[in-house]
Amino acid sequence: MNILIVGALGQLGSDLVREFSGENVIAYDIEEMDITDEARVQQQIAFTSCDIVINTAAFTRVDECEREQMEAFRVNALGVKNLAAACKRWDLPLVHISTNYIFGGEKPTPYTEEDPPGPVNAYGLTKLAGEYYLQYTWRKHYIIRVAGLFGLTPSRMKGTNFVEAMLRLGERGTPLRIVADEYLSPTSARDAAKHIRKLIETEQYGTYHLVNHGVCSWLQFAQEIFRQSGMNVPITPVTAAEYGAPARRPANSALENAALQKLDLDTMPTWQEALGVYLTERGKAAR
Ligand SMILES: NC(=O)c1ccc[n+]([C@@H]2O[C@H](COP(=O)([O-])OP(=O)(O)OC[C@H]3O[C@@H](n4cnc5c(N)ncnc54)[C@H](OP(=O)(O)O)[C@@H]3O)[C@@H](O)[C@H]2O)c1
Repeated sequence: MNILIVGALGQLGSDLVREFSGENVIAYDIEEMDITDEARVQQQIAFTSCDIVINTAAFTRVDECEREQMEAFRVNALGVKNLAAACKRWDLPLVHISTNYIFGGEKPTPYTEEDPPGPVNAYGLTKLAGEYYLQYTWRKHYIIRVAGLFGLTPSRMKGTNFVEAMLRLGERGTPLRIVADEYLSPTSARDAAKHIRKLIETEQYGTYHLVNHGVCSWLQFAQEIFRQSGMNVPITPVTAAEYGAPARRPANSALENAALQKLDLDTMPTWQEALGVYLTERGKAAR
């Protein structure tokens, strides 16, 4: 199978390239194909003669999306529109990665694929527009929503992920302020990549949540990172309002892999187990 991975140098893109290393992978990032360039997307997709396209490319800096709304829309919405049109033209399934931040956060339990969206920030809004463009344009699609990604190759745009950011700050010994009233289901990029592989073998197109099992606040996530790393780091719990990030986040954006469970494909470990594997692999990589 020839697989075109777009956003291949990013956090999830890198794990997908590793996961599909036995196949013929064409790894493109912005240098090879800027997804906002409609003509180039058409040309490149025709040129690669791939069998499937996986798009992880996005404007992922959530706070910056508030200031750069037009640019975020260009990448997260119009970029997906361009990919969807090209995939339709060449009859190629398109796997597109979306986010837990398309939800509003008021539901007290994890969101399923059936729940209505209601983004509370520009990032979520532009990612939801990308989902809609894809649904509207091309039937052969998988929309896969992940959350709080941590992968061995840190996000290019952000230069880090939450686990790496905590470890770096913890090593410096500075007291930390971490948000205690926002909940999510963290996702190992490696586990996500494995399940994306399983899912695309089914040809069951649609929308899927793909997260590690369990729910935590950012505070609980940080505490578990330090516990598993054997570090004693003082943390002051704060509310999201006290923390004062430029972009509002949903209070609850935990997801449940309901659609994946219906296909009997949900073998995602808990986020704590996934974190353990990540920390071990990270240690090995550093040696
Ligand atoms: N990270 C998370 O916690 C998280 C949570 C929920 C959902 N997601 C979604 O998961 C997906 C993967 O996230 P990630 O953390 O792996 O992101 P990432 O590390 O930031 O990777 C995104 C990649 O896309 C590239 N890119 C940006 N604009 C592009 C364009 N116009 N054309 C082509 N490539 C472009 C980036 O290149 P440059 O770095 O050079 O700009 C980067 O290599 C995204 O769709 C994101 O919205 C992520």
